[in-house]
Amino acid sequence: LERTFSMIKPDATRRNLTGAITRMLEEAGLRVIASRRVWMSRREAEGFYAVHKERPFFGELVDSMSSGPTIVQVLEGENAIARNREVMGATNPANAAEDTIRKVHALSIGENSVHGSDAPETAAQEIKYWFSDTEIVG
Ligand code: GTP
Ligand code: MG
Repeated sequence: LERTFSMIKPDATRRNLTGAITRMLEEAGLRVIASRRVWMSRREAEGFYAVHKERPFFGELVDSMSSGPTIVQVLEGENAIARNREVMGATNPANAAEDTIRKVHALSIGENSVHGSDAPETAAQEIKYWFSDTEIVG
C-alpha cells in the first residue's frame, strides 16, 4: 500500500465541505490514516510551497492557504498518489473531469479546495512536514 499527503484547503473548510470531500476520497479507495485541523501561518505556507516561490501566484497562494483552517491528512491505498490525483481532478476546475472533487467543489484555480502530493518523494516530504510517525496510524 502506498501513502500520500492531502490537504482540504481553507476555501473548502469555510464552506463546511470537510466531510463531503473526505467521503469522495474514501469512495475512491483511500483510507485516512492521519488527520489534523490546522490554521497555518504565512511562514508555514511559504515553507510548504517553497518549490513554487518563484511563480507569479506565490503571494496569492500563501495568502489563501493561511486565510483559514486546513485539514492535513495522510491517505493510504493502492496507488494512493495517482488515485488521489485522479479524484482531485485538474488544478483548474474549469478543466476538471466530471465527478472529481475540483469539478464538484472548487471555485477557481486559486481556490481549488484540495492539494495532493504529485510523486513518492514529495509525498514523503510533505507527510513529514506535517506529521510525526506516532500520529500516523495505518
Ligand atoms: P496541488 O495539489 O495543490 O499541488 O495542485 P497541482 O499540483 O494541481 O498544482 P501546482 O502544484 O501546479 O500548483 C499548486 C497550487 O498553486 C494549485 O493547487 C493552485 O491552488 C495554485 N495555483 C497554480 N496555478 C495558479 C495560478 O495560475 N493562479 C493562482 N492564483 N493559483 C495557482
Ligand atoms: Mg502540485
